Amino acid sequence: MTEEAIRQVYKNLSAALGVKAVLAGADIPVRNRNDWSSLAPNAPAILVRSETTEAVAIVMKTCQALGVPVVPQGGLTGLSGGARPLDGCVALSLERMNGVIEIDPAASTMTVLAGTPLQVVQTAADEADLYFALDLGARGSCAIGGNVSTNAGGNRVIRYGMARDMVLGMEVVLPDGTIISNLNKMLKNNSGYDLRQLFVGSEGTLGVITKLVLRLFPKPAHTMAALCGLADYDSVLALLTSARRRLGPTLSAFEVMWPDYWEVATGKVQNVRDPLAKEHAFYVLVEAQGTDESVDGPRFQSWTEGAFEAGTIEDAAVSQSLSDVQAFWATRDAAADFKLVLGPHMAFDIGLAVGDMEAYAQRCRDKLAADIPGCRSLFYGHIADGNLHIIAHVPGAEPQPASQINAVVYGLVGEFAGTISAEHGIGTTKKPYLPFSRSPGELDLMRKIKRAIDPANILNPTKILDVE
Ligand code: FAD
Ligand code: LAC
Ligand code: ZN
Repeated sequence: MTEEAIRQVYKNLSAALGVKAVLAGADIPVRNRNDWSSLAPNAPAILVRSETTEAVAIVMKTCQALGVPVVPQGGLTGLSGGARPLDGCVALSLERMNGVIEIDPAASTMTVLAGTPLQVVQTAADEADLYFALDLGARGSCAIGGNVSTNAGGNRVIRYGMARDMVLGMEVVLPDGTIISNLNKMLKNNSGYDLRQLFVGSEGTLGVITKLVLRLFPKPAHTMAALCGLADYDSVLALLTSARRRLGPTLSAFEVMWPDYWEVATGKVQNVRDPLAKEHAFYVLVEAQGTDESVDGPRFQSWTEGAFEAGTIEDAAVSQSLSDVQAFWATRDAAADFKLVLGPHMAFDIGLAVGDMEAYAQRCRDKLAADIPGCRSLFYGHIADGNLHIIAHVPGAEPQPASQINAVVYGLVGEFAGTISAEHGIGTTKKPYLPFSRSPGELDLMRKIKRAIDPANILNPTKILDVE
C-alpha cells in the first residue's frame, strides 16, 4: 500500500461518511493505537468510527479497491494483539455502533449492535428479567462484537458455554463490502452450513460483525458462592467432582487460584479482602445459581458442610448475601489490576486436561525460574473448563524476555498435549506457536477459508496466520 492510496482512502471516506467519522494523524486517540496485549502501541494511518452497517460496507469496499488493510476494533481489551493496528492501516472502530435493538422475551433473545459494551448487554437483559450469561473481568470495556470475534470464555463457561454458544443470529460485512444478514432467533436451524460459526473466534480476519442476536436465559433467582481453602490439588479435583454431582445444573463457576496468585490479589490489589483466616495450598471460588432460594440455599450450604466433613476443604467462607458473593468475586476480578500492581508482564490462557493442571504449574514455575533469571510466575484460571492462566514476568525488566518466556510456557503445553489458547485467541502474539496446537492439515484448511472469503487479504491480514 502507498501513501497515495492512504490519502485517497481518507478523501473518499471523509466524503462518504463525513469528516467527523474519519480521523488521521494526531487526531487519532491514544486508546485506538493498541489493545491490552503487551505489544508496543502502533497508530493506524486512519481511524474510522462507523455508525451504521452501510458505513462499514463502504469502508471495506473503499479499502479493498485501494489495497489498504482494515483492522476491526471493539473495546480493545483483547490480550493477543488482534485489534492492534498494522502499519498503514485503517482502524475500523465499532464503538459508535452501540445499543440494544430489541429484546424478545418469547424467543429469549436480544438483538444488539456489535459495539455495545458487554456490561450494557448484561444490564439490559437483567432489566428485562432475563440473563445474559457471558461474563469476564473486562465486562465494562469490552464490546459484544469483540467477545464474539474472540469467542470469549470467561467465568460461567461450565454452565452456559462460550460466546459461540450464545450467538443465534449475526449480521456481518465481508472484506469486499457485501452485507450478509441472518438475524436468526431460533435455537435450531440446520439449513445448510452454519456460517455464523465461521466468524465466531475468527478475530476479525473474515468479516466485520455489525449486529448480533444473542441467546438469553432465565434470570437466576438466587446466587450463592463459597470461597474454599484446600490442602492439595487432589482435593481440588474431588471438590469439582462433588460440586458437579451435588449442585448439578446450578453449578455456574469453579475458579481456582494458586497461592502465588492469591498473595498478589489479596495483598496488593486495592479493595480486595481475604475472607479466609489461614493460608492454603489452593483457593477455589465456587458459584451456584438457583431458581428457588428455599431449596437451593440449603442444598448449597449442606454441600459445603459435607465437603468440610469429608476433609475435601480445609476452610470455607459461604456467602450470606449478594454483597458477599461480590466480595468473593473481587478476589478473582483482581486479575484486571495486575498490570497496575505488577508492571509489565506476559499473560497466558493455555488449555490442558483438568487433571494435569498442577503438574504443569509446578514444571512451568520451576522451569521459568531456572531458565530465566529473576522470572516470577503466578497461576489461576477457569480450571473446570481446562483453562489455566499464567502471569509471568521479570520484575523491572524492560522489555520483558518474551521469547524465552513463550518458549517455556508453550514448550510445556506441547509436552502436555494442551492448547496455546483456550479463550483469548491467537492475534499476533501467539501466531508463531499456532503449529504447537494445530496440525498442518488444519492450518492449510484455515488458509483456504481465509483466501476464499478475503482473496485480497485486506481484513486484519497477518493476524492468526499468514496466507501469503
Ligand atoms: P478487541 O480487543 O477490540 O478485539 C479483539 C479481536 O476481535 C481483534 O482481533 C479485533 O480485530 C476483533 N474484533 C473486534 N470487534 C470486531 C467486530 N465487530 N467484528 C469483527 N472483528 C472484531 N477473555 C476471555 O475469553 N475470558 C476472560 O475471562 C477474559 N478476561 C479478561 C479480563 C481482562 C481484565 C481483560 C483486559 C481481558 C480479558 N479477556 C478475557 C480478553 C478480552 O476481554 C476478550 O478477548 C474480549 O472478548 C475482547 O473484546 P473487545 O471488544 O475488547 O475486542
Ligand atoms: C481472566 C482473563 C485474563 O480470566 O482471561 O482473568
Ligand atoms: Zn480467563
